[in-house]
Amino acid sequence: EKGGYKHFMLKEINEQPRAIRDTTLGRVSLDSGQVFLPDLKLGPEEFRRATQLTIAACGTSWHAALAGKFMIERLARLPVEVDYASEYRYRSPIASPNEIGLLITQSGETADTIAAQREMTSLGIPTLAICNVVGAAITREAHGTITTNAGPEIGVASTKAFTAQLTALFTLALYLAQQRGTAAAEHSLHLVTELSKIPGKVEEVLRSVDDACANLAKSFSNARDFLFLGRGIHYPIALEGALKLKEISYIHAEGYPAGEMKHGPNALIDESLPVVVIATQDPTDPQSVLKYEKTLSNIQEVTARSGRVIAIATEGDHEISKLVEHTLHVPAAPELLLPILETVPLQLLAYHIAVRRGCDVDQPRNLAKSVTVE
Ligand code: M6R
Repeated sequence: EKGGYKHFMLKEINEQPRAIRDTTLGRVSLDSGQVFLPDLKLGPEEFRRATQLTIAACGTSWHAALAGKFMIERLARLPVEVDYASEYRYRSPIASPNEIGLLITQSGETADTIAAQREMTSLGIPTLAICNVVGAAITREAHGTITTNAGPEIGVASTKAFTAQLTALFTLALYLAQQRGTAAAEHSLHLVTELSKIPGKVEEVLRSVDDACANLAKSFSNARDFLFLGRGIHYPIALEGALKLKEISYIHAEGYPAGEMKHGPNALIDESLPVVVIATQDPTDPQSVLKYEKTLSNIQEVTARSGRVIAIATEGDHEISKLVEHTLHVPAAPELLLPILETVPLQLLAYHIAVRRGCDVDQPRNLAKSVTVE
């Protein structure tokens, strides 16, 4: 049942190309760039009128939500707020006129997320869901759903469901942009074409970084702490890298926005601290390049204090390898799609470290796959 893999987690990591492909299947036209999401069931007028999207989710799904904020705000120019589902109803949320709610959940049964959905409903906010399980509780109460077609996920650590959520959010962002008239046809077609290349690129990453991650695990499996840094849309991926490592290897890890290091966490850096820095870029996107340059200075701040940097960089970036101890490369892609690619090495790094430490990768202590209590 593990398809020849040692753990469900490793099997599911390797299923990502298929999961991503299936999540876009029938939803995008490679001829026109048009996105189709008929199961959302809200009309174009409701999307045009929308003034705000509020996303509530937990854990890994919350990280997907944070990345989704960058996608939706950039492409559809719709303000997005992201809440921990477990906090949402305790902060007396204020509903804006024409606000839309979105719940992101692999299982569709997370009690905190159900509670957030009910709070939204009671405030008169229509809710949508991104969910991996057809017919799950949250989809039954939602107006409409985007199903992530990742297939059943057994490992407690979410992997393929996460990259499928990122894929669904990207299609949603582009769909909203088209409904709201903020995406030029040419740009849409370019993005859809790039999206269709992602499964192949994930395959490439799986092939090219696995051995390197296993080797890194040899050097770093005894670390006491880990830091994960990223800027912009890469920051949620840093958070996800840290969560994966924490939950399966029991090593303390923190994700931080790279630019915030000088406001406190720099004090933690010494020669025993591994720092994973997401330093990818889309050279055709000035915003992405600017962020990359700032990230390079952040890397220098870490190496100057003898921190041990593992960089996630774009293929062809040889400059960065001169600055850091280790580099893992991912193929180039538009800025908003890079998160899918850079997630893969972080999953494999966590996996190999946990295996070396003799941890129960599929069933980490104290955790359940589906958290049905608040
Ligand atoms: O089923 P959900 O997506 O609603 O679950 C949310 C979290 O419980 C889940 O992502 C959890 O953080 C995972 N163990 C992360 O790997």
